[in-house]
Amino acid sequence: MSRFEGQVAIVTGAAEGLGFGIAQRLGGEGARVTVVDVNSDLARQASDALAREGVSSEVVSGDVADEETARRATARSVARWGRIDILVNNAGIGSPVARSWEMPVEEMDRIYRTNLRGVFSFCHHVIPHMLERDYGRIVNVSSASGKEGVAGAVPYAATKAGVISLTKSIGLELAKTGIRVNCVTPGAVMTRLLERLTKERIDGMVSRIPMGRTGTVSEVAALVAWLASEECSYSTGAVFDVSGGRTTY
Ligand SMILES: NC(=O)c1ccc[n+]([C@@H]2O[C@H](COP(=O)([O-])OP(=O)(O)OC[C@H]3O[C@@H](n4cnc5c(N)ncnc54)[C@H](O)[C@@H]3O)[C@@H](O)[C@H]2O)c1
Repeated sequence: MSRFEGQVAIVTGAAEGLGFGIAQRLGGEGARVTVVDVNSDLARQASDALAREGVSSEVVSGDVADEETARRATARSVARWGRIDILVNNAGIGSPVARSWEMPVEEMDRIYRTNLRGVFSFCHHVIPHMLERDYGRIVNVSSASGKEGVAGAVPYAATKAGVISLTKSIGLELAKTGIRVNCVTPGAVMTRLLERLTKERIDGMVSRIPMGRTGTVSEVAALVAWLASEECSYSTGAVFDVSGGRTTY
């Protein structure tokens, strides 16, 4: 039997990049997937692509910075399938490159609302449904930047550090239940997020990766899929590195 047969997953930022790869992986192993994305055209295309692979999906177009998106995604998943087993909080945005004293304070608000508040909103709305069945797997996509800090991208690094602390805190809150909450900290994976950076910045990132290469979407999706599975039973509030050896702590 497939690992996620009969299960339902909500994946945010699932229209492309890591989110789409994670949706494909979970769907390929039997999950039905709610694709949440601010880019409605791409989200529809992602859902069509999943359908061609035999995966049932529901599209919820919306910005995770808006709490209403979490409310809608939760309600739609429960209305259509009656359950939510997996929540992958993947949607995230990068910072413009500027030092903190040159970065407008509004950038901090904007990035915080997507990268950290959005994760909180989805947890807030989905967890009561998981508690009803005393089962759930929540996987948050943080970043190696959240462990290391990044000069010139303070809002990104700081909000990703926030995702790590949120994961630990909610993991502790739910440790006595059947819900596990973990996060992954990818290093550099070639998606559109990275394509927006300059070549020098990407080369700088690769030079700090002991394996000497960027990671692939499927390498990250494989780890997320394990954390989203029943087999992940004795880890919660934990941070799982997927960075080619860059962050060895
Ligand atoms: N690519 C990397 O090297 C890397 C490294 C570390 C962490 N990450 C994290 O992985 C996650 C996915 O990154 P990616 O590289 O696939 O990015 P991406 O830009 O390729 O894809 C992000 C997806 O999220 C959607 N999205 C963005 N903001 C949204 C919002 N406010 N509401 C709903 N949807 C939104 C986009 O439309 C897009 O479909 C992010 O949280 C990112 O910070 C990526």
